[in-house]
Formats: sequence, C-alpha cells, structure tokens
Amino acid sequence: MSEKSGRKRSSPKAASSKRPDQRSDPKPVRYKIRRKIPAPSLHKPEANGRFNDEQVSIPFVLARGVSREAQPFLKWVGGKAQLLAQFDEFFPTEITRYFEPFSGGGAVFFHLKHRFPKMKAFLRDINPELINTYLAVRDFPHELMRRLDEHAAEFKTKGDDYFYFVRAQHHLTGDDRKIVERAARMIFLNKTCFNGLWRVNARDEFNVPVGSNKNPGLYNEENILAASRALDGVDLVVQDFRKTLNQTRPGDFAYVDPPYYPVSATASFTSYAKEDFGEGEQRELHAVFAEAARRGARLMLSNSDTPFIRKLYRDFQIHTVQARRAINCDGSKRGHVNEVVVTNLTNE
Ligand SMILES: C[S@@+](CC[C@H](N)C(=O)[O-])C[C@H]1O[C@@H](n2cnc3c(N)ncnc32)[C@H](O)[C@@H]1O
Repeated sequence: MSEKSGRKRSSPKAASSKRPDQRSDPKPVRYKIRRKIPAPSLHKPEANGRFNDEQVSIPFVLARGVSREAQPFLKWVGGKAQLLAQFDEFFPTEITRYFEPFSGGGAVFFHLKHRFPKMKAFLRDINPELINTYLAVRDFPHELMRRLDEHAAEFKTKGDDYFYFVRAQHHLTGDDRKIVERAARMIFLNKTCFNGLWRVNARDEFNVPVGSNKNPGLYNEENILAASRALDGVDLVVQDFRKTLNQTRPGDFAYVDPPYYPVSATASFTSYAKEDFGEGEQRELHAVFAEAARRGARLMLSNSDTPFIRKLYRDFQIHTVQARRAINCDGSKRGHVNEVVVTNLTNE
C-alpha cells in the first residue's frame, strides 16, 4: 500500500451523530468510544502531473485521485460488508497490529486496511481452503485469474457436469501450482454453487449443489489486484480461534466474528467447517476473549442478539446494530434483524 504518499484527513461521515439503530443499549456504559477513524490515504499526482511508480501500481486509482478499498472476492455467509457503516462507530482511531480469528470473506480486514495501510494484519480461519485462497490472491493473482478464465470457459460449454467434475477434486495439496489450482477451484465453486455457500461434510469435502446462474462473473480483475495489494505483508495461517486470541498483546486490536449462536433451533448456519460451533465453543470463545481483554487487547465481537450471548458478555459493553439477513430456511426472504457488537474499547 502507498504508505509514503498517504496523507490523512478526518472522515466527514465519522463526525455524524449516531443513528437510532446504532444506539448502545440503555445499560450503564463505562467508557466512551471515539467516533472518528482516519479516512483513506490520498494518492495525488506529483507536481509534473504524473503518478510516481508506487502510485501507478495501486489499483483503483480514481479520477479524483482517491484509491478505493478492495472488496471480498468470495461470497461468505455472515459477511460483514453491509454492516461496515455501522461498525465505523466502534473501530479504534489507530491500529498497529490487527487480528481476525474468524476471517471469512474478510470484509472488515479490507475496510480497516484501507484506513490503516501500515497496520500489521494477522488473518486466521479454521478453513484451509479459504486461507489458501488468500495466499493465492496475495502471491499469484495473475495466474489465479488465468485459471479462473479457463474454469469460466469450461463451465460455459459443459455446464453442471463441469461443476461436479471440479467439485469432486477434494484435497488438492502440494506445490505453488496447487495453491493456485485449489484457490481457483474454491472461487469457481463459490461463485457457481447454490447461494454461494461454503459447506463441507464430516470428511471436510465441499458438498453444495450447483446454483442456477449459468454465467456468473468469477472475479473482477481490478478488485483481485486491489485485494492482492491489501494482502501484501499479511500473515495468513489456518488456526483455531483459541490460539489466535491467545497471541494478542496489549494494544492489539482484534475483530472477532464467530459463527453466530442460533436465534432458534433451526435458524442459523454454523457448518462452515467440519467441526460444529455450538454452545460449548461460544463459552470457550468468551473465556479467551475475556482473557485477551484482561491482558490489554482491544476487542470487538459480533454475534446474534440472543439472551445467551447477552448474558455471556454481560461484563462488556453491548451495542446493537441492524443487519439484513435471510429470514427463512432457503434464504429467499430477507428482513432486518438485530445483532450485537461487544467491545471493551476505552476512550483513546
Ligand atoms: C461468520 S464467519 C466470518 C464472516 C467474516 N467476518 C466475513 O465478513 O465474511 C465465521 C468464520 O469462522 C470460521 N471458523 C469456524 N470455526 C472456527 C474455529 N474453531 N477457529 C477459527 N475459525 C473458525 C469459519 O470457517 C468462518 O469463515
């Protein structure tokens, strides 16, 4: 990222007062949260009107000279892109080291990396295919896009048979070429399967059927290149959340977005990985979260707005945000639901 050319200014949006859907609960609040986070760096041409080398290599340089932030390149259940405007209220005003124990589609990482280009990020997830795909986007973006073009062409001519042929190639491992091969498989399946789900069986094999869109866009070139730049220098590891939160130090910031605790017995999707994420995991997460807070890490966690979660995190600040989510089991009907944001952020 262009750290040298960056010039910070405060965000006009950040100065606005809270909307009703962002209000903290009417509970005693122990700390005030600062509302401003720095706006993205500006990338302006040199005096001769040209961009310097570093600036030229930045994707998404817009006409007015502001670089746009990368977006998630996968569809991911529970993605946070729609909540970022509400989350801006809660993010710290500076971040040096950033941890995301449940990275998923990475919407929060891309958002924060754009605002804090110098932050050192540690992205973790239990899903090895997902972390491999981040690696491929970071290190081999052009090879990856070439392979995706081949998948797109084959899918166009062979249709569903090709989807199931690619789906059957489980457990590809090995050299650099395999990194690209696995990542291209994941993006292809994610964009062509039913509802963009990533669901695996007990053998860790992807098992979602083909979707109805027979000509989906598999990627956006500018966005892949922007994501690749954003991921430059990012530490990517397949890792369980317990270990990740235990690695945080005083002053680090972690955004914690676990599979949500179900609002009802049948409502929520928690099968991202072959291990289930139930009440026991939620309690263990609370324990490592509380321990990291005690050591001085700055923390923010999302979860469903349920009595169980509110009780578990009763010693922290609990705020409410509104998300647009699928409200029936086949995902075809959407409505607004409350979700909680738990923080221990102090006034900086
Ligand atoms: C709610 S999603 C994260 C969504 C993400 N923040 C986004 O914007 O797309 C939860 C993620 O937790 C991961 N996960 C599930 N169990 C885990 C565990 N024990 N340790 C680490 N990650 C886990 C899943 O693979 C999934 O990517």
